[in-house]
Amino acid sequence: MQAWTRALHAGYTGAVRPALFHSFGGDPEAIHERMVGGLGQVPAPVLAALRGVMAPSGTPVEVSGLSFPHPVGLAAGLDKDGRAAHAWAALGFGFMELGTVTPRPQPGNPKPRMFRLPEDRGLINRMGFNNGGARELTARLVAAGVRRGTNALGVPVGVSIGKNKDTPNEQASEDYLHALRQVSDVADYVAINVSSPNTPGLRDLQTRAALTDLFSALDDERRALDPASPMPIWVKVAPDLTWDQLDDVVAAAEETGIDAIIATNTTLARTRADGSTLTSVHRGEAGGLSGAPLSRRSREVVAHLSRTTRLPIIGSGGVMTPADALALRDAGARLVQVYTGFIYSGPALVRAIVEAWDADTTR
Ligand SMILES: Cc1cc2nc3c(=O)[nH]c(=O)nc-3n(C[C@H](O)[C@H](O)[C@H](O)COP(=O)(O)O)c2cc1C
Repeated sequence: MQAWTRALHAGYTGAVRPALFHSFGGDPEAIHERMVGGLGQVPAPVLAALRGVMAPSGTPVEVSGLSFPHPVGLAAGLDKDGRAAHAWAALGFGFMELGTVTPRPQPGNPKPRMFRLPEDRGLINRMGFNNGGARELTARLVAAGVRRGTNALGVPVGVSIGKNKDTPNEQASEDYLHALRQVSDVADYVAINVSSPNTPGLRDLQTRAALTDLFSALDDERRALDPASPMPIWVKVAPDLTWDQLDDVVAAAEETGIDAIIATNTTLARTRADGSTLTSVHRGEAGGLSGAPLSRRSREVVAHLSRTTRLPIIGSGGVMTPADALALRDAGARLVQVYTGFIYSGPALVRAIVEAWDADTTR
C-alpha cells in the first residue's frame, strides 16, 4: 500500500469510523443516511479538490463497450436514490451502481433493517428496496448534469432496477420495463436485480423460463429506446443458487443478449467464509448477509460462471481487502464492486485495490 493510501486508511479506521459508528445513537441506517446526504451536499470545488487527492490512477478496463478508468466500483444499494453521484467519483470509485430503484417509490421494510456485525466484518440488511422511485432518481441525476453516454462524472454510472413489492411476479416484467424506460436517459448500463433476498418471491424470477421472458422483453425495449446504441444490460445473481440454477441464468443471458453478470448479491447463509459460526450479536437477524462471510462463496460463484460463459463477470461480495479483490480477479472477474468493505475501511480501500491490481499483473 502506498504511503498516502495507508495514511487515508489509518485516518478512516482510527478517527472517522469510530466517530461515525457511534453517532446517531449508533443506528447504522441513520448514520448511512446522513453520510450519503452529507456527501450529496459537498460543493463542487471541494469535490474537485477531493478527487485530486483520492482518485487512484489505474489501468482502464473496457466492459460492455464502456470504458472504466479502473476496475473498482460502488455496489448497488449504498446510494439507492443517486443522492451523491458526484461524490462517489470524487472519492475515487471507477464506476457506480445507483439504485436499486423501482418504478414507483416505496418505503421498504419496517426499521430497524440494517445491522452491523463487527466481529464478523459483515452487515445484515433487510431494507426491502426502500427508494424514491426511478423517475425521481433520473430527475436528480439530470439536475446533477448526468446524461447517458456523456461521461459527465468521468466514470460510468449504472442503475440497478427492481420490481415493486406489491407487483405480482407474473407482472414483474412490466415493472422492469417501466424502470428501464425511466432511467434510460441517465444510465450507462442497467443492472437487473432479481437476487435481493428482501422482496418476497423476487428470487423466484431467477429460473431459466422467467429470466428468458424478462431478458427478451428488456432486450426489445432497449433496442426500441436506442436502436443505434442499445443500453448494456447486466444481471445480478444470488450467491445461494445451485450450479444448475447458475447455468440456467447463463443460458438465459446468452440466449437473449444480456451483456454481463454481477456475482453476487447478499446471502441467506449464516456462516463465516471458513465455515465457522458467526459471533456478532446481530447474527440472528433476518435479511441478506454481506462482507467477509460472503467472500468465499462469491469467489466460487465467479469461478463457476467464468468456467461456463464468456460473458464478462463483475465480482461483488466480501471484498474487504485488496487480496479479496485479486482473488475475484483470479476467479475471472473483470470488475469488482464494494459495499461492506467501504463501510469498514473507507475510500482508502478503493485506492488500495487499484494499486494492488496494477502491481499484480502477472497472474
Ligand atoms: C444495506 C445494503 C443494501 C443493499 N441494497 C442493494 C440493492 O438495493 N440492490 C442490489 O443489487 N444490491 C444491494 N445490496 C448488495 C450489495 O450491492 C452487494 O452485492 C453485497 O452487499 C455484497 O457485497 P459486499 O460484501 O461488498 O457488501 C445491498 C447491500 C447492503 C449491505
